[in-house]
Amino acid sequence: MTELALEARIRGPVASALLELQDPVRAKLEQVPGEMWRIVKADAPIIAAANAHLRGMKGKMFRPTLLLLASELEETADGRETALAAVAELVHLASVVHDDAVDHSNVRRGQPTINALFSHQIAVIMGDYLYSKALAELVRLGDLEPLRAFTAASNEMTLGEMRQLASYDALSFSEADYWQLIHAKTASLLGAACEVGALCGAPTYRQAMRRYGDQMGMAFQVTDDLLDYTEVESVTGKPSGNDLREHKVTLPLIAALPQMSAVQRSRVNTLFANPTPVDVEIADVVAIVTECGGIDYARQKGQEFAEQADVALEPVPASAARQSLSDALTYVIDRRS
Ligand code: IPE
Ligand code: IPE
Ligand code: MG
Ligand code: MG
Repeated sequence: MTELALEARIRGPVASALLELQDPVRAKLEQVPGEMWRIVKADAPIIAAANAHLRGMKGKMFRPTLLLLASELEETADGRETALAAVAELVHLASVVHDDAVDHSNVRRGQPTINALFSHQIAVIMGDYLYSKALAELVRLGDLEPLRAFTAASNEMTLGEMRQLASYDALSFSEADYWQLIHAKTASLLGAACEVGALCGAPTYRQAMRRYGDQMGMAFQVTDDLLDYTEVESVTGKPSGNDLREHKVTLPLIAALPQMSAVQRSRVNTLFANPTPVDVEIADVVAIVTECGGIDYARQKGQEFAEQADVALEPVPASAARQSLSDALTYVIDRRS
């Protein structure tokens, strides 16, 4: 059995769907980590130590996957795509290093976060280091369009994370606020990755890929927020229930609130009034949100965004890469980590 087949068997059918959709770009995808560590290589001792830790934390590499797939939709990609795929993953990595510090999260990808292993301060500086190295690589490549796309996405992500802070304790946070927030903090980078991929070999489909990435990115974050309610840490590699623990209002809760009885609503209010909610309190609110239809509603919305992304793919001619982008939509909403 090959290493990949073995990994797929250990991780289950949804993870093997990810491996399958990566197939058309497997060889290039395998070069991406090498490119990333070339870009961020440092002699400074703490940065080198943090880099070494991050290197051992392997994520799904979803943004590089999408960028590489989008670059294969027309003709052969032009050679810039592997470095740009590394930039996409570095911008993502910078954002999660910062996000874990902001969210006081101790585990990611099944391993200690930078803030947990080193310190909060080092996580702040490391995030900046990764961002600035990603931007320096874009400057080195000397092409203004990818630089523009990733800089705009980074800026939007920052605005999204800041908006997230403003939503703390805000049980009045509306569904419209939520859509705006997740577009900024998550869909903007997935949209940029797809658009930049198209710029490397399928310019005709630049706009289509942007729309696809934006809509898929919405489904991606809706699912991430669902997993925080429904899945356990040993599967996601991140602490579950962390959004409620951090008083983060996401779609399942937004949808469930109007359906709650006065008693249920007061239990939610109690959790939000407690600066350090305990696990049973979180489990109680998860049960209320589930009973009031919040999970089903979010699943439905994730599905709708995935369908919109599929519509964006319509003008793209059949190819193995297009098929993978289509399969990625099922993967995004079915995934468990
Ligand atoms: C986590 O992204 C942050 C979100 C935008 C939800 P991923 O789910 O892609 O995380 P990794 O890279 O696979 O760990
Ligand atoms: C996505 O939000 C964060 C980023 C875009 C970095 P979350 O806070 O939900 O992400 P996770 O769940 O920690 O990965
Ligand atoms: Mg987080
Ligand atoms: Mg999350």
